[in-house]
Order: sequence, then structure tokens, then C-alpha cells
Amino acid sequence: MTRIDLVTGGAGFIGSNLVHRLVQEGRSVRVLDNFSTGRQENLASILSDIELIEGDIREPSTLQRCTQGVDTVFHLAAIPSVPRSIEDPRQSNDNNISGTLNVLIAARDNRIRRLIFASSSSVYGDTPLLPKHENMTPALLSPYALNKLAGEHYCRLFSALYGLESVSLRYFNVFGPRQNPESEYAAVIPKFISAALQEVPPVIYGDGEQTRDFTFIENVVNANLLAARAARCSGEVLNIATGERISLNQLASHLANITGNRISPQYAKARIGDVRHSLADITLARSFLGYDPSVDLKTGLQKTLEWFQDTGEKQAAQL
Ligand SMILES: NC(=O)c1ccc[n+]([C@@H]2O[C@H](COP(=O)([O-])OP(=O)(O)OC[C@H]3O[C@@H](n4cnc5c(N)ncnc54)[C@H](O)[C@@H]3O)[C@@H](O)[C@H]2O)c1
Repeated sequence: MTRIDLVTGGAGFIGSNLVHRLVQEGRSVRVLDNFSTGRQENLASILSDIELIEGDIREPSTLQRCTQGVDTVFHLAAIPSVPRSIEDPRQSNDNNISGTLNVLIAARDNRIRRLIFASSSSVYGDTPLLPKHENMTPALLSPYALNKLAGEHYCRLFSALYGLESVSLRYFNVFGPRQNPESEYAAVIPKFISAALQEVPPVIYGDGEQTRDFTFIENVVNANLLAARAARCSGEVLNIATGERISLNQLASHLANITGNRISPQYAKARIGDVRHSLADITLARSFLGYDPSVDLKTGLQKTLEWFQDTGEKQAAQL
């Protein structure tokens, strides 16, 4: 019998990129998504190649059904937003902690081989020490960060108690094609690109000197595939990033150069829960997974810009 890969949150930004890649590699893929932030159009070109289930990770019975015959679970479904978790901590807790527990229980009950959990650099908070490495004490600034840390602990516990192999990947500011620039909580790169294409000023919260380790989506997808296959990495928590940082002001100026939109940024009040600096040490991911961030920031930005231009042109052609 063919063993299936289950991707929770597979209609979202990271999930849909991963699903496209799994399909390319000839895997049997099942997607579970409630379309709260994900979109079916992210999977439009491969709908006939996958099994798409509209359902919610807060429903244990749905998960018991979805995990049957599954080899690997890529668990990405979550409310992926610091501001939303501050506005509504209960909803984040229900989706991100209780939902993750439901996924783990179903994975254990159905004897899944391995689960890859989407964690986040937000667990490091604002500790001044850079780069961030995995054995630093977490410093949580938001319910979202707490949710992700709890998810990691649950994964480790399920590996230790029930023999369910798990790997938690701490992503650092992922960007790339299919990232939604329209949500109120959208990430900075799609927002900046969207602003450039509409010839309006990009908005920067704070003074723009905060730094981020931006990670192109292809590197994150590679990390997931490596984590699914690597030996001796069960129970690990690993940073997935580029290992370089730039400030938002530098990012805005680089995008101004490649898009030709030279409108100066508009500065708004800094947001609660945002960290000042972020940079990853990726030594552990290199050694456990053989991970290598082969697409650098500039190449990733160029590819992302081209994707947004192309999508914009296709949408305009349909009007
Ligand atoms: N994008 C980043 O930079 C980043 C950084 C660190 C961690 N992460 C994590 O990676 C994962 C994917 O993030 P993303 O950027 O692709 O976000 P996204 O919003 O595009 O994807 C999340 C997906 O999960 C689905 N979902 C949410 N709640 C669900 C539920 N209860 N049941 C079923 N499906 C549900 C959404 O509809 C969406 O398709 C998340 O777990 C997020 O916390 C993302």
C-alpha cells in the first residue's frame, strides 16, 4: 500500500509550496486545511494530484481519519501571527496548542512514522545574544511564541513516551511565492513588494533598524524534506534560516533598487511583541539534516518579485 504524506495547513503559504514539491517528487499527498488563512487557489494546478480535505485540526475525529495510512505528517496548520495571538490568546491556544496535541495523538494512534512540526524563531524573543542557537533559554513575548514552544515540547514528549519520531523546525521569517500580502497581519516582504508594485510607500513599524534573518521558501521546503528522511534526528529542535540578517531599512532600499519604486517608506508605531533583532545559528540543522540555505536573500527576493509580477499580470489579463 502506498504510504501518504499528510500536510496540515497545506493550503497556506509554506504548506502549499511544500505540497507542490512533494507532488513533483511523486509522493501521495493528503492536505488538511480549514482555509482560515489558506487558499484553494494555492493548490489549483495540482488539485487532481492530491487529496484535499477541508477540515479543522481542532476536531480530533477529523485527524483520526486523516492520519490513516500516513507515513509522514508535516504539521503546519496554525494561526501564524504574533499580533493575532495578543488580540485573541484563546483562539491561538485552541488552534496552535490543542490543535497540535490532536495531531500528535492521531499520529501516535495511527502509528505514523515521523512528524515534522513548524515552530518559530519567535520563541527566542528579545534576548540580546546573537546568533540565536537552539539551547538558549526561550524568552517569550507573545502567546504565539508560547504556543510554538509548547508544540515543540509536546513533540519531544511524544517521541520519548510513545516512540513517534518528531523534528521541530524553527523557521526564521520565511518569504516567497504564494505568501499573502493582503492580510492585516501579512509579513513584511510580500507587503513591501505589493507596495512597490502599486507604487505606494512601504510601511515600516518602528525605526526600520530592526533586523531579520529572512529565509527563502525553497530553503524551508528543502529543510522539511531533509527532516522527513534524515536518520538520528528524532526529538531535535532545529533553526531553519539563512544565517544572515538585514535591517528593514536595508530591505526597503534593496527592493527599491530591484523594483524601481523609489517612494520613501512610511514609518508607523512599533508593534508590541515584535523582536528587535533576529539571526540564526544554523550549525545544528547543517549537521543533523545536511541543510544548506542554497538560495540567498537577493536571489530569493528576485524570484519572489517575479512571481508577484507574473501573478498580477495573469489577474489583470482575466479582468
Ligand atoms: N511564514 C513564516 O515566516 C513562519 C515563521 C515561523 C513559523 N511559521 C509557521 O509555519 C506554519 C505555516 O505558516 P504560513 O506562513 O504558511 O501561514 P499560512 O497562514 O499561510 O498557513 C497556515 C495554514 O493553516 C491553516 N489552518 C489554520 N488553522 C487551522 C485549523 N484549525 N485547522 C486546519 N487548518 C488550519 C490555514 O488555513 C493556512 O492554510 C505555521 O505553523 C506558522 O506558525 C511560519
